[in-house]
Amino acid sequence: ETEEFLAAFQARIDAEEKIEPTDPMPQGYRRTLIRQIGQHAHSEIVGMLPEGNWITRAPSLKRILALLAKVQDEGGHGLYLYSAAETLGVTREQMTEELHAGKAKYSSIFNYPALSWADMGAIGWLVDGAAIMNQVALCRCSYGPYARAMIRVCAEESFHQRQGYEIMLTLCNGTKEQKEMAQDALNRFWWPALMMFGPHDGDSAHSEQSMKWKIKRFSNDALREKFINATVPQAEFLGLTVPDPDLEWNEEKGGYEHGDINWDEFWRVVKGDGVMNRERVQMRKDAWDNGAWVREAALAHAQKRAAKIAA
Ligand code: 3HC
Repeated sequence: ETEEFLAAFQARIDAEEKIEPTDPMPQGYRRTLIRQIGQHAHSEIVGMLPEGNWITRAPSLKRILALLAKVQDEGGHGLYLYSAAETLGVTREQMTEELHAGKAKYSSIFNYPALSWADMGAIGWLVDGAAIMNQVALCRCSYGPYARAMIRVCAEESFHQRQGYEIMLTLCNGTKEQKEMAQDALNRFWWPALMMFGPHDGDSAHSEQSMKWKIKRFSNDALREKFINATVPQAEFLGLTVPDPDLEWNEEKGGYEHGDINWDEFWRVVKGDGVMNRERVQMRKDAWDNGAWVREAALAHAQKRAAKIAA
């Protein structure tokens, strides 16, 4: 790629133009979008598993309906994002094979087990809350299909976050045991939720270039701080304690100082050695194999219809 080509492309980005699938783009721009959108799609699909486990165990019909709707939404977000990635030339099969082979990343948060009903509250409140922070910014991503996918995703994500928070509120206004369940879920999901935003800016391999290309509008730490500043008051309203003894409001900064994130844990989980990594990938492989007959039937049906129309 010539300097002129790269400069002309950067000028389009700087002018806030949306890049569309058939536009000429640097290979690096294409590659990092395939990487990020593919991982994002995998995160949505794998993210269905912890919650899917609790649909039949939810405490009421109302909770079953809300959780079912949320898990279905996540599946839809995944399909949206796989389609956005396909506009860049990667195939669904390639991305699926990579996930099943353990070669594709997805958000580390989904490698933590969902041990109690309160986890459904903590996941909706914290995980979807963190995802919203990140995804609202992605609505302004320079790549058109990705930005447009995010607008629909964010609309549904806010319902996910609210239903999670409402579960936590109900538990915290319930019995002593229920409030303890909510505190236990916050203890187990707080730090992994902070890790969703990625490494510190200084350790982030892609941030600088991704921000130059306006794929990333805010740095990992900026979004993480925004999430902490919005979420700590919510925990206080619930009467729960954020499991970080170093958490402290800094008036001058207008934000919270927080304790060190355990990056050894982060990289261990990202590299595949978290509590649930193997089980999550295995469940995706089983779902793919068990669903083969559905794909074959849908293809046969589509071919029959096409033949009928052509006749
Ligand atoms: N889990 C797994 N891998 C992570 C990670 C995490 N929490 N955070 C960072 N990484 C990986 C990156 O993918 C990258 O690895 P790679 O080079 O092999 O791809 C490496 O760590 C270095 O991180 P960088 O900060 O340099 O990488 P990015 O610039 O890509 O930033 C990101 C990471 C902020 C997660 C960015 O990729 C992003 O915004 N992705 C889109 C949003 C997304 O995927 N969110 C995940 C959750 S989706 C979700 O929760 C759905 C909701 O409905 C529940």
